[in-house]
Amino acid sequence: MRQMTLIAFLQAQNCTNFASSWRHPQSRTDTWSADYYRHIGRVLEEGKFHLGFFDDRLSMPDMYGRNHEHTVRHGIRCVKLDAVTVLTVMGMATERLGLGATYSTSYYEPFHVARLFATLDLMTDGRAAWNVVTSLNDGEAQNMGRDEAIAHDLRYDRADEFMEVVFGHWDTWEDDAIVQDKANGLFARPEKVHRLDHRGRYFRSRGPFTVPRSPQGHPVIIQAGQSGRGKTFGAQWGEVIFVVYPNIEIARRDYADFKKDVARLGRDPGHVKVAQLINTVSAATKTEAEDKWAVINKLPLEIDALSLLSEALNFDFARKDMDEAFSDAELKEMSGLQAIRDRVVQASGKKNPTVRDFIHFSGRGRVHDPIVGGPKEVADKLEQWFAERACDGFVVSATHVPGAYEDFVRFVVPELQRRGLFRKEYAGKTLRENLGVPIPRVGAWRGTYAMGSV
Ligand SMILES: Cc1cc2nc3c(=O)[nH]c(=O)nc-3n(C[C@H](O)[C@H](O)[C@H](O)COP(=O)(O)O)c2cc1C
Repeated sequence: MRQMTLIAFLQAQNCTNFASSWRHPQSRTDTWSADYYRHIGRVLEEGKFHLGFFDDRLSMPDMYGRNHEHTVRHGIRCVKLDAVTVLTVMGMATERLGLGATYSTSYYEPFHVARLFATLDLMTDGRAAWNVVTSLNDGEAQNMGRDEAIAHDLRYDRADEFMEVVFGHWDTWEDDAIVQDKANGLFARPEKVHRLDHRGRYFRSRGPFTVPRSPQGHPVIIQAGQSGRGKTFGAQWGEVIFVVYPNIEIARRDYADFKKDVARLGRDPGHVKVAQLINTVSAATKTEAEDKWAVINKLPLEIDALSLLSEALNFDFARKDMDEAFSDAELKEMSGLQAIRDRVVQASGKKNPTVRDFIHFSGRGRVHDPIVGGPKEVADKLEQWFAERACDGFVVSATHVPGAYEDFVRFVVPELQRRGLFRKEYAGKTLRENLGVPIPRVGAWRGTYAMGSV
């Protein structure tokens, strides 16, 4: 029977992606301690989650009013740790849980990223994943030696070449290159270790790469592009895809279209897992879950939304009054997550929405459309999406940590297992084995991207 993929949407920061979560009475306050991340890792592994994945951004959300005062005062994602270091700690506290981190293609050299994730993959016995992002706002650019973020489509052009370099390096060591014949003094066969000699439009990298392949070949690639260009990139390179489909009808259609795109590129659609972003508030009964939700729903402040909208759209919302409509030129200026802008235009039914419309229709800063219920209600909803092929699984975000994951593991996971929708044990040791995504054959991604067998 087809099995659901479950991923935890984690942040190495002072709150979850719900900025007010730090004010929740049960949120832990030591979010920069190793023990906090070890605990989350163990909870997720007990719940047999496939993957704990950390998002990232290379700056505080200080675009609103061009000042970080409000960000720090209200704790709006102002502490952000290096996710790969945090993952290493989590990897040492777990044995089967997959470990994903976000890294940008716009601010690092591909050699560096290839080596970092290949090393992480070895140190976790083949459990690493890389969420490939192109980065979206000027705050990140200004922290990383540039004035502004690269234009949307151009950053994906660079990202394509970035991936060629990374994959090229990951293919350097053929599977049977290493001999370690001490008696004859042969460490590895030189004819099986290759130089890349990449000289492209945006990058140059010679090689040979210095990290051999891991038990799962190389890290799993995650992607979450929502624009046409982003989706094509995901279909080309991604193995786990994050989506934010607005409802099940659109989800069924977009999911089918996406899988067709994957097949058109010569890849097996069954080997690319599509995971829908969800928020859950779960408890032993529906009434208890509703009580929990009432507490959570009181936490957000308007400033959370204004700050996060400014950050995500790379546009200072302090420039406008609450009920002032954005001009066509201003809407065009929004260069970050354009999918949010487009959603607000569509949902408000206004060609030129106001700031208030953005707050209301984007849901930014609030818990968006949560599934609130006991085991049955939450599992019913997940089962429907999964069974009707609206997705292959879910990226579960948290209203507060560790409570939201403890509740999910205690109340929802057993019900999914009872229904035969979710496995009771890990299938294997590596993330690929657990996801059912094959080990990539060396060189297979060139030309048509075809994978080998598991
Ligand atoms: C679940 C999810 C997680 C994401 N995590 C990050 C992240 O950590 N850092 C980041 O810069 N962008 C992140 N993004 C943004 C995507 O990488 C992508 O830029 C966005 O969905 C817009 O699509 P586009 O780039 O095709 O316009 C995330 C998106 C989703 C849906």
